[in-house]
Amino acid sequence: MDNLPLFKGTETDDFPPSINQETVEWALQKTYEFAQLMSCYRCAMMQIETKFNILNEEFSLQFDRQPISTVKTRLKNPLSIRSKLGSKQLPLSIESIERNLNDIAGIRVVCSFVEDVYMLADALLKQDDITLIEKKDYIRHPKPNGYRSLHLIVAVPIFLEHEKRLMKAEIQLRTIAMDSWASVEHQLRYKKENAFDADMEAEIRRCAELSAELDSRMNALKNAVYADVHNESTIIQKGLAEIKRRSGIKENGTSLL
Ligand code: GTP
Ligand code: MG
Repeated sequence: MDNLPLFKGTETDDFPPSINQETVEWALQKTYEFAQLMSCYRCAMMQIETKFNILNEEFSLQFDRQPISTVKTRLKNPLSIRSKLGSKQLPLSIESIERNLNDIAGIRVVCSFVEDVYMLADALLKQDDITLIEKKDYIRHPKPNGYRSLHLIVAVPIFLEHEKRLMKAEIQLRTIAMDSWASVEHQLRYKKENAFDADMEAEIRRCAELSAELDSRMNALKNAVYADVHNESTIIQKGLAEIKRRSGIKENGTSLL
């Protein structure tokens, strides 16, 4: 370590001659701006995650089941940002990140049933502070390898001390079955460095089709189960009956006490 000038000390005159005071100041400023931008994306992620948690809460009270299995968030790391800008031959700058990349803030919502994916997407997009920038429906139109998910690029405002900023985020909504297929496919593709042979391609696609069939059968089963026991009015009636029972009110409205 000692023979590396960068690690000798913190004084700027310890840096190699090519790194002068001005360069250091510039780097510190850029590091700060980058951290600030990432912090804004983190706020946007929190905002959207909360929106989904609220929808989950509301829905579970209304229909007595939770549509969301998990919500995961991730912030794209600096190395991935650099390589994505590089691969698209875009400038490596704070402005370029904000202008060109839509998936710095990522939110993945995993549901048990396909219908809930669309219900949640619609409920989110109805909110008046959410602007839809792009929608890719890989459920109705799967990718050639069989990948399925509903992708939304949205803009959401975040309110800071002195300003309001619109931040972009990528939301992926999918079922548990779609999520497990995508996670295994990602692992295998990574292992093969993207080079599946034709048989492997066909097999992974077949697995995706099986997983789609599973989703469709489970969704039908859910509808059969909930048609019997949980339409909205029976839940409200059961809730009212429970409130009356607990507060001691008889069916005809007179008090039991
Ligand atoms: P990039 O964001 O540059 O990759 O291009 P794009 O915006 O056209 O991508 P797209 O919206 O199709 O996909 C973005 C994200 O979806 C990826 O980063 C993955 O997380 C996921 N994804 C897309 N296709 C696949 C796939 O074939 N397999 C898996 N496992 N994930 C995928
Ligand atoms: Mg993308």
